[in-house]
Amino acid sequence: MNLKILSRNEIFLEQPKWRDPGRSNYLAMYSSVFGGVVADPALMILPMDDHLVHRGDGIFEALECVNGYLYNLDAHLSRLQRSAQLISLDLPFDLGTIKQIIMETVAIVGVKDCIVRLFISRGLGGFGPNPTECHKSNLYVVALKGESVPRHFYTEGASAVTSQIPIKPAFFARVKSCNYLPNALAHLEAHRNKVDFAIVLDQQGYVAEGATESIAIVSKQKIFMYPKLDNILEGTTLLRALELVKELIKKEDLKRISCTDISLEEVYNSSEMLVFGTSMNVVPIVKYDGKTIDVGKPGPVFRRLLELFQKDKTENKKVLTLIPYT
Ligand SMILES: Cc1ncc(COP(=O)(O)O)c(C=O)c1O
Repeated sequence: MNLKILSRNEIFLEQPKWRDPGRSNYLAMYSSVFGGVVADPALMILPMDDHLVHRGDGIFEALECVNGYLYNLDAHLSRLQRSAQLISLDLPFDLGTIKQIIMETVAIVGVKDCIVRLFISRGLGGFGPNPTECHKSNLYVVALKGESVPRHFYTEGASAVTSQIPIKPAFFARVKSCNYLPNALAHLEAHRNKVDFAIVLDQQGYVAEGATESIAIVSKQKIFMYPKLDNILEGTTLLRALELVKELIKKEDLKRISCTDISLEEVYNSSEMLVFGTSMNVVPIVKYDGKTIDVGKPGPVFRRLLELFQKDKTENKKVLTLIPYT
């Protein structure tokens, strides 16, 4: 090893070696540290002494921009505010300003369809754990070309296993914090088991949530069942789905909605198992813990819900915020 001190110019080359060239889906990043937007992926960086980096002390949100509209923005911003309050984190700007910054960041790159990730960090200041080292929180907003959800999830269905990773204590599970080690390990567990999702159980052994997904089942009695939200993250997509399934109840495709404890037996014996999340909306699980769910094919509630989501995302002005492109 022959270490030397590098200059700025050596690090921020046009195409630096340390930046994975495969990552061409990074469109832009707003940083309150820089006070503006950067579009060069080599500049999409955070100071190492931001407590988000070395302590995971921060919160985040991810939302979709569909055909030039942000989908369900207010639901994401209220969850952001709730997460901030729970961990005593002052937002660096009011919600109106954060909204404006998100919209302008997307408008600058001019794309109509992307994923927006926003992060609020505790701020810069030393390398210790104590938040009082930081005098000001920061906002980072990243716009990314969405990575497409595998098509077969929707046509053939996906698979899942019960995770061995212990669920986070309720207080931490309800915060969408940047402290996602248990969630990351559950993703790894799914990968190692050669399935698509890993589902965490609560302390009583009832199904709780996916690594980064909410879950629900449709019972043989046509009841749409989802776990109580006091111990898990309140999924914005699941909450939208609860609105959309009302349509299915009206048409008598479903009898009712029930927020309840769900045992593994109830999942194994369900007609449909569904997972929900921002980038994929709803995906059917047709194989769980190696067992086939019902006939092992995406079911009718999934198909109707997917259609309703498509309609909601393109036509429901109540949940769509227009990006002010110039
Ligand atoms: C633990 C957890 N549960 C559920 C979800 C789904 O939330 P949303 O529908 O708001 O994307 C996420 C999203 O990242 C999550 O991290």
